[in-house]
Amino acid sequence: MGAGALGCLYGYMLQRKFDVIFVARGEQLKALKRGLRVTGIVEDFVRVKAVENPVEADVTFVTVKSYDTEEVAKELSRVNCGIVVSLQNGIGNEEILMNHLDRVLSGVTTYASNLVDYGWIEFAGEGETFVGELNGRISDDVIRVVEILKSAGVKAHAVEDIVRRKWIKTVINSAINPITAILRVRNGKILEIEELWDLALRVLREGEKILEAMGFEEKLEEVLRDVLIKTARNRSSMLQDVERCKRTEIDFINGALVRKGEELGIDTPYNRTLTLLVKSLESIISLK
Ligand SMILES: NC(=O)c1ccc[n+]([C@@H]2O[C@H](COP(=O)([O-])OP(=O)(O)OC[C@H]3O[C@@H](n4cnc5c(N)ncnc54)[C@H](OP(=O)(O)O)[C@@H]3O)[C@@H](O)[C@H]2O)c1
Repeated sequence: MGAGALGCLYGYMLQRKFDVIFVARGEQLKALKRGLRVTGIVEDFVRVKAVENPVEADVTFVTVKSYDTEEVAKELSRVNCGIVVSLQNGIGNEEILMNHLDRVLSGVTTYASNLVDYGWIEFAGEGETFVGELNGRISDDVIRVVEILKSAGVKAHAVEDIVRRKWIKTVINSAINPITAILRVRNGKILEIEELWDLALRVLREGEKILEAMGFEEKLEEVLRDVLIKTARNRSSMLQDVERCKRTEIDFINGALVRKGEELGIDTPYNRTLTLLVKSLESIISLK
């Protein structure tokens, strides 16, 4: 559901073994009806089944941007969409889906994909997929989804700590995405410029405090450094959104940390400032 960059990558990997339906819209839908081109780690062109509205399925992977989750949840509630797995970044998507749907799982992926053009993705990085229930149970649904992914050659693991993993990924993204989007720089610049590294660490520390208050004590400085080294040449998804004059997921990343901080009595001035700046940037862009 939402066959953009990530949805097409998972759809592509799964269609090697399963009957996959790509739910897309607009120009992307038109292009997918002609076929899906994959470049990067894999070079391929495949015919795919692309439709405009969700259909009955055993498993539905939700891969829309977080701000579209509410609308998609309503659309999915009108069909028997089976087990629903959110592979999205940020906090709150599963809760939105759960307000409308019964069997919702959470997923964290480190696979990477870019939309080169409509109907054309770049398979940019092979990673891992972690799947779990928000309550930590390794349910039959979790086992089933992981088996499906694995049998299609996707690296996947059933995990009890999906909530912790999602928050850690969010905290790491919170220290990279808005800085790169506001300054329009690739990820590597954060390590190159002393002041940016200082800023990223201040953002990270706020996230670490929140994680600690949630019972997830984590030291993430080395994780952040490692991500920045490995993705130095990448333009973050938030930067790509800003460059395309699209909305960003700031409300579900830094914005979610600000809200969690308020709930826990933890001050998050850096996350708040970055959220306000990116939201201002969204307004400026939409004025274009
Ligand atoms: N790309 C990655 O490598 C990656 C990796 C990890 C996590 N993620 C996360 O995965 C999510 C998706 O990211 P992405 O990069 O794949 O974004 P994307 O390329 O924008 O893909 C989302 C797609 O869903 C479509 N869509 C939205 N609402 C729809 C609806 N109601 N019906 C049909 N299609 C709909 C969008 O169409 P429009 O373009 O018309 O809006 C778009 O084609 C985000 O939360 C992101 O943070 C991405």
